[in-house]
Amino acid sequence: MTMIEQSNPKQLGEESSIWFKLTPLLKAANGNPMQILMQMGERYGPVLPINMANQRVIMIFDPQYFKHVMVTKPDTYVKYFDGLTPIFGKSMITTDGALWQKIRAPQQPAFHPGAFDGYIPYFNQAIKTKMDTWAEYAKSGETFEMVEQTWTLAADMICKALFDRDMPFNPHVIFKCVKTYTDVMNHKDIRLRKQAGEMFEMSDEDASKAIDMWWSVPPEVMAAKPNEYREKTLLKMIEAAVADEDLPEFDQQQAIDELKQYLWAGTETTALTLAWALYLTSKHPEAAARIRAEGQEVCGGREPTAADYSALQYTRAVIQETMRIYPPIWGFLRVAAEADEIAGVEIRKDDRIFLFGYGAHHNPEFWEEPEEFRPERWIGDQAKKRVKYSYIPFGAGKRSCVGGAMSQVENTLALVQLLRRFQPEYVGQEPPALNATVTLTPKGGLPFKMHELNN
Ligand code: HEM
Repeated sequence: MTMIEQSNPKQLGEESSIWFKLTPLLKAANGNPMQILMQMGERYGPVLPINMANQRVIMIFDPQYFKHVMVTKPDTYVKYFDGLTPIFGKSMITTDGALWQKIRAPQQPAFHPGAFDGYIPYFNQAIKTKMDTWAEYAKSGETFEMVEQTWTLAADMICKALFDRDMPFNPHVIFKCVKTYTDVMNHKDIRLRKQAGEMFEMSDEDASKAIDMWWSVPPEVMAAKPNEYREKTLLKMIEAAVADEDLPEFDQQQAIDELKQYLWAGTETTALTLAWALYLTSKHPEAAARIRAEGQEVCGGREPTAADYSALQYTRAVIQETMRIYPPIWGFLRVAAEADEIAGVEIRKDDRIFLFGYGAHHNPEFWEEPEEFRPERWIGDQAKKRVKYSYIPFGAGKRSCVGGAMSQVENTLALVQLLRRFQPEYVGQEPPALNATVTLTPKGGLPFKMHELNN
């Protein structure tokens, strides 16, 4: 396993981190940090070695080389989680090799599509709770931030469906704690201003408190009373792995870290997708109308079921198109464990590898009018024409997302139900500015007002 250890695990970022090095590049582009990388890809791609301070970073722009790194040689290009150890600990997402297999195998059944039918009633419960909140916003007319709303919904869905718990923590507080850590572009500013003796908004003490809060969440979830004492939950699978004497690697700390991972990897990404989908459908009322009509046709007056999910083809296409335009994971990091060669470029051991997924999603070579929102691309013959690895919202190869298929169920069901009852109105700047944190986030969030239909 390759992991850069931090001197103080609670500090924000690491000066040796690739994020520190990328920050000036990304910040230079006002409003859309992706643009600079797109231009670099056009001018110098498909494989560009750059020396950043004392480190060699290899930037990769072409899907065929994504395949090389992620699918053909995943043991040569191993995981690299610069500065994010406090968020993930030693969870599955950060490990490699035999250990990774041992950690992933006992949890994998929770993400088998056959398990989703059982989760849908719990997803629906969480969506209903969110609708109650939105009905209040509609009444008061106040403006609110959407990513925080969808984050709390995604966290509730995971807790209910995968852990058999109601959230035993305040999700709004935890949302802010996690943001402190994942907003990697801000860390450099904070550090430099602190060194210059300036005032800065986040002290190390505050950052340390935020991480303490985050670390307290998994034990709270474990200790909370189960809702229904279900036997086949992810949490039960994790507890069984801890009790398994033949699996000494899966200890109590591993269990805690796995929960951290799900509450970040399973919430942040799902929440961003839903928030961006609500933004896009607010800007494209014809798409929102089509989702409402599809919901009426497929589900009528009842809540969606597993069979309905398959029939909600257009709503699903909107989610897929949203992840193409705004992939929550916009770039992938790896480190070369040994020497190799890609497209004639020498790769040295310890080189950092950066795969620019967003670039492939927006490349006109692979997508007609890539900046246009066209859910129809995902339906019928058009969908079959896709170039392999030009769309990788969930990564590729054996390290691809364990929860990707489940997140599509969550988001499709949420989008159709929320839009059938509400008309969310985006009231922020146009287009929203982007922030390239570990995920692709709207800078300052997505402000909305809510309107309840038929009211
Ligand atoms: C729209 C939603 C989601 C997106 C876009 C997404 C994206 C990703 C991506 C790109 C990776 C691979 C990262 C890499 O190769 O470096 C990944 C891994 C992972 N994701 Fe997701 N994810 C989503 C939802 C979820 C959900 C709902 C869960 C679980 C509840 C989840 C759990 C994980 C885990 C555990 C891994 C690590 C897998 C491994 O290394 O074996 N994700 N995700």
